[in-house]
Amino acid sequence: MVQNASATQTLLDWLRQERHLTGTKEGCNEGDCGACTVMVTDTEGAKTLNACILFLPQLHGKALRTIEGITGPDGQMHPVQEAMVTHHGSQCGFCTPGFIASMAVGHLNGDTDHDTTLAGNLCRCTGYAPIVRAAEAAAGKDVPSWMHEDLSALADLDADAALPKSSDDLARAYAANPDATLIAGATDVGLWVTKQLRDLDQVIFLHRCADMQQIEITADNIRIGAGVTLDALGKAMRDLHPSFAEMIRRYGSAQVRAAATIGGNIANGSPIGDGPPALIALGARLHLRQGDTRRDMALEDFFVAYGKQDRAPGEFVEAITIPRQPDQLRCYKLSKRFDQDISAVCGCFNITVDAGHVVEARIAFGGMAGIPARASAVEAALIGQPWDEITITAAMPAFATDFSPLSDMRASAAYRTEAAQNLLLRYFHDMNGQSVSVLEVTP
Ligand SMILES: Cc1cc2nc3c(=O)[nH]c(=O)nc-3n(C[C@H](O)[C@H](O)[C@H](O)COP(=O)(O)OP(=O)(O)OC[C@H]3O[C@@H](n4cnc5c(N)ncnc54)[C@H](O)[C@@H]3O)c2cc1C
Ligand code: FES
Ligand code: FES
Repeated sequence: MVQNASATQTLLDWLRQERHLTGTKEGCNEGDCGACTVMVTDTEGAKTLNACILFLPQLHGKALRTIEGITGPDGQMHPVQEAMVTHHGSQCGFCTPGFIASMAVGHLNGDTDHDTTLAGNLCRCTGYAPIVRAAEAAAGKDVPSWMHEDLSALADLDADAALPKSSDDLARAYAANPDATLIAGATDVGLWVTKQLRDLDQVIFLHRCADMQQIEITADNIRIGAGVTLDALGKAMRDLHPSFAEMIRRYGSAQVRAAATIGGNIANGSPIGDGPPALIALGARLHLRQGDTRRDMALEDFFVAYGKQDRAPGEFVEAITIPRQPDQLRCYKLSKRFDQDISAVCGCFNITVDAGHVVEARIAFGGMAGIPARASAVEAALIGQPWDEITITAAMPAFATDFSPLSDMRASAAYRTEAAQNLLLRYFHDMNGQSVSVLEVTP
């Protein structure tokens, strides 16, 4: 039991400085490189997380296994370690503990999509091919017995703690301390501490609020609790809105998706968050709660201006609901790197065509304004028109009415506008059955 630790002490600092478990490395200290990857097990199973942006209270009731414990108790190598040796998967070795942690969790979970599993681990010298070959070679090998021990340790760890366990607890605690910082997955807040060196005075952790981690699907709605992780949301969207799921696969990395919540992704008000454009295009409503008072609004109305959301002190995001609908959503994320990169532009399209004419259009973008926003002029230019390339071409200039994007390190304003226009054309071709994914297009 860890006692008297600061609520915002990171697991990485604790491991290295207080437990002298220095196998877990510090590379970027901001969730990007995976050198600090550890295995965390809860009742849902084993996952990887980045220790550098994980605060100690987030581990409450969970089992932790670091690289030191992936090697067997008598020094036996794990099959992924053996395969890394055989396939020359390590040169300087700095990234290797993080890779081994990701590979061991993938191996345990029977996950053979190695590119996705390892996208959050960066290697500067070996190159990825030998590492992926090692993961492939280990895939058929038995899981060592010690890797199965963590689930049985959970019951003992599940002691009581001063953490809210439900949205009711959270509502009371936040109403009484409206200046507190809410911490859900800490994939944003973690960086305030590790990069901005901020002292967070009062904090309230959300990760034990079980009722906020549910996804309820009825005939009319999909209700997603604010504490649902991007990983869980991606899985739920696979059958309902597969393009959204595919975009979530490119959201951060496995380690980030296992921590980040959709509530945090909305509440942070980021103009380049990937969740809001897809949810706005799906017509999502946002449910806010302050004490016992609840209200809801169209998600797009929550984003008032850059850095400003329609949220009162002590009020939190409780859930989002999406109306059930036939799937015609397409999400296009443009970023410099395919995996684990923030969007330069993220366009989400949901257009209904009936009898050859556009009858409804919901188009939302990230990266085009100071907030995630709908392309209302483009929507208006489409509605009532025949669903053909002439209509699409005629509607494309309306993006300039909707958005005046900025130039920044991710993209120029001109690129953003042109890309947004072309994404509309891409949607048209996509819905007409043409291959438009960069993973599908062949020369
Ligand atoms: C390496 C890395 C890669 C990333 N890649 C992406 C990406 O590809 N796409 C993308 O969109 N984002 C990305 N992010 C950003 C980040 O993951 C998201 O914004 C994330 O969804 C935030 O959720 P969280 O649960 O971690 O929020 P936290 O960090 O816990 O909180 C974020 C903010 O929201 C507030 N908050 C949290 N929950 C609530 C609630 N229920 N009600 C009210 N306020 C709340 C917090 O107080 C804080 O202000 C990345 C981050 C990292 C570190
Ligand atoms: S040190 Fe780079 S992800 Fe944690
Ligand atoms: S082996 Fe050197 S960074 Fe990967």
